[in-house]
Amino acid sequence: MDVVVIGQIVRDLAVRVDEVPGPGSAAPVRERIEVLGGKGANQAVALAQLGCRPALVGVVGDDRHADEVLARAVEDGIDTTPVVRRSGTRTGLIIDVVDGDGRWRYLQDLPDGVLLTIADVEAAAPAFDAADAVVVQLQQPLPAVCEAADRGRRAGATVVLDGAPPDPGARSDLLARCDVLRADDSEAALWAGAEVGAEIGAASDALRVARALLVRGPWMVVLGAGSEGNVVVWPDGEAVIPLGDADVVDTTGGGDAFTAGIVAALHEGPETAARRGSAAAALTVGHTGGRPRLSREEVAQRARP
Ligand SMILES: Nc1ncnc2c1ncn2[C@@H]1O[C@H](COP(=O)(O)OP(=O)(O)OP(=O)(O)O)[C@@H](O)[C@H]1O
Ligand SMILES: [Mg+2]
Repeated sequence: MDVVVIGQIVRDLAVRVDEVPGPGSAAPVRERIEVLGGKGANQAVALAQLGCRPALVGVVGDDRHADEVLARAVEDGIDTTPVVRRSGTRTGLIIDVVDGDGRWRYLQDLPDGVLLTIADVEAAAPAFDAADAVVVQLQQPLPAVCEAADRGRRAGATVVLDGAPPDPGARSDLLARCDVLRADDSEAALWAGAEVGAEIGAASDALRVARALLVRGPWMVVLGAGSEGNVVVWPDGEAVIPLGDADVVDTTGGGDAFTAGIVAALHEGPETAARRGSAAAALTVGHTGGRPRLSREEVAQRARP
């Protein structure tokens, strides 16, 4: 399966400490991971691990870190031809500080230059021609997001949107442009406020919101429902997928793995796809940092109801 992923590419430094030190004090780092990261790259890595052929559309800078992250992406089996190297821009950096209770803080250096433009997406046109699915993160600027979704649609690919738009005015346009929508707990709350003016307190609320979104475009909606897990709705059915019993070290990247797990299993139908997504997330939250460590067999095994 050929998948185009539109999203962020960064240098990712994750450190785990017992307690985050206050000003004027220090703490020893218990674990340190320096990898290719960012939501786009994480999803592409997860898709490659799950047997898909991902092409990544994102922006890096013109520094030596760009060489490092791109070399890593190629090693990971990602087609980096559509990645834009922007001159005069530094490659994004995210520092993920996780404490002993699994609470993260992100320190982010994301210059404006690493955000995608319409021209960046246009330059990636050849990748869209072959795509079976196009996955777009709603963190990116709306014009680039819409351009990518429209290109995916024209190429006959399944268009998957991940997240929620910061701009409420964009919601209808986005829903009309997608086949599959996935949002985590806080993003689901944004969609909920817009849809039914409600908060998501339980899976039944999430199902109600997901149904309201379903009639506005997509044929599959997956929303986070807090401690009850995730819900999935499609025209003929719905399911609540509990979180399971993963030990959570760091939720970073859990959502990215979720989306990749859905995409890699779309041919199995909405319920199985959502269960695979949840399994991929559970396998990612058990270690420090957002980089997934997945295999098809493990995800399929864990997803069995
Ligand atoms: N205890 C748990 N067991 C299994 N899965 C879990 C558990 N806690 C969280 N998850 C899964 O991990 C995912 C975390 O994704 P979410 O997007 O909420 O986190 P995030 O920190 O924003 O991740 P990302 O950085 O990928 O966006 C959720 O989709 C959820 O299904
Ligand atoms: Mg998330």
